Amino acid sequence: MYDPILLTLDGSELAELAIPHAVAMAKQFGARLIVLRVVPPVVQPLDVDYGLSAPYGYEKIIEAETQGAAEYLANVVKSFEAEGLTVETVTPLGEPATAILETAHDRGAKLIVMATHGRSGFRRLVFGSVADRVLREAETPVLLVRGHDQDHSAAGKS
Ligand SMILES: Nc1ncnc2c1ncn2[C@@H]1O[C@H](COP(=O)(O)OP(=O)(O)O)[C@@H](O)[C@H]1O
Ligand SMILES: [Mg+2]
Repeated sequence: MYDPILLTLDGSELAELAIPHAVAMAKQFGARLIVLRVVPPVVQPLDVDYGLSAPYGYEKIIEAETQGAAEYLANVVKSFEAEGLTVETVTPLGEPATAILETAHDRGAKLIVMATHGRSGFRRLVFGSVADRVLREAETPVLLVRGHDQDHSAAGKS
């Protein structure tokens, strides 16, 4: 039913809390896993020259970021493949929520698995802004995994 499953990771430990859930679902449903890390474009106002030039121009930065994202994902999925799962990694360029939603649509994902928080980790918000938009706009069910909540552990709940 849930094949393929899209797992989104931004490189943070909080995002990685979703991994065991995505793997368990993939095993349970015999599903392929698409593991995605979006490379956000570097924001540079058109009129401003930051003095960036080759080899550190915009394209080189994006290239390096994309390569870093691909290496990170390759490392993460090694253990999935060792467990016999069929895995594909993707590193689209774009605004993260938009790229997640587009990839889910284009690849026909049947389930999105993600953590509520990621790199910026504003834990006072119930969800981060990317998680919030994906949850609101996704065409599929979304399995949201909450990160460890400091307030709860302080209250002795963890
Ligand atoms: N660049 C990205 N690539 C892939 N997934 C992302 C990206 N940014 C955010 N996400 C996904 O959204 C989840 C929540 O992150 P986000 O909403 O950005 O919260 P935060 O504000 O804590 O960073 C992450 O755990 C991850 O699954
Ligand atoms: Mg974020």
